[in-house]
Amino acid sequence: MTKVVVATVKPFAKAAVNQIASIFEKAGYECSFFEKYESQNDLKKAVAEAEALIIRSDKITEEIMDAAPKLKIVVRAGAGFDNVDLAAATARNIVVMNTPGQNSNAVAELVLGMMVFQARNHFNGKPGTELKGKKIGIHAYGHVGKNVARIAKGFGMEVFAFDPFVDKAAIEADDVTVFDSVDEMYRTCDYVSLHIPANKHTIQSINYGLLSKMKNGATLINTARKEVIDEEGLLKMFRERADFNYVADIAPDNRETIEKDFAGRCFFTPKKMGAQTAEANINAGIAATNQIIAFIENGDTTFKVN
Ligand code: 3PG
Repeated sequence: MTKVVVATVKPFAKAAVNQIASIFEKAGYECSFFEKYESQNDLKKAVAEAEALIIRSDKITEEIMDAAPKLKIVVRAGAGFDNVDLAAATARNIVVMNTPGQNSNAVAELVLGMMVFQARNHFNGKPGTELKGKKIGIHAYGHVGKNVARIAKGFGMEVFAFDPFVDKAAIEADDVTVFDSVDEMYRTCDYVSLHIPANKHTIQSINYGLLSKMKNGATLINTARKEVIDEEGLLKMFRERADFNYVADIAPDNRETIEKDFAGRCFFTPKKMGAQTAEANINAGIAATNQIIAFIENGDTTFKVN
């Protein structure tokens, strides 16, 4: 019997857990859930017999892989896989996959929700502004970016994007205006929403040079990764530009300073909430489950990222 461990510090919704368990049971797999664990040491013990792992933002390091000698596949139920040491996995012949697109609507809905919250002054009773007629710039047009564009249009926003890795015509087919220059997008838009992955090219790439181009009164929304922000540059922006706002689903390291000194101009969720919906958990959880079964039974490596 293939042993699967679903290791999630931030557990899936109950409905997702039930469906994952039921699919594995029908397929004749042994599946256990290791939720809300407190340390990497605990995780090490939990994966000792695992041949397959489903994770979320859980950190899968070389050490964890060495503690799981039978491990063949890790599926990150979600989009970003910066939490898995891909080189270490490849060196151990472990396949790593993600489940692209499965939680993207949930993240996109949160983007617009956070924008309304900021535009309406955190619902403090004072007059705010509307999203209708404003310009939103989508920085990276993947699954989440595409959903943000769709929902932003429903609000009557003008939608722009910058993504040198996506075919311009494909973005334009969504009635989205493409910028060839990232600076130009930051200069033009009232809202900029980040959807870039965290990797060696993007870490700290959202720096003062870029932020300082932002339009007067602009808001930056980050539901991607905190690592893409240059926090010194962010702080400088807050200090120098009283019109600048920042809302994020992944709080910066200097959260307390920013919240204390720039109250009303920032908001950070208590923990990453973008994919925290029953629907996203079900979609990503079931996709991960089916991908593991397809890999073990047929060697299917669709969605392999290493
Ligand atoms: C993702 O990369 O899919 C999102 O950031 C969601 O991450 P989570 O599963 O840890 O909530």
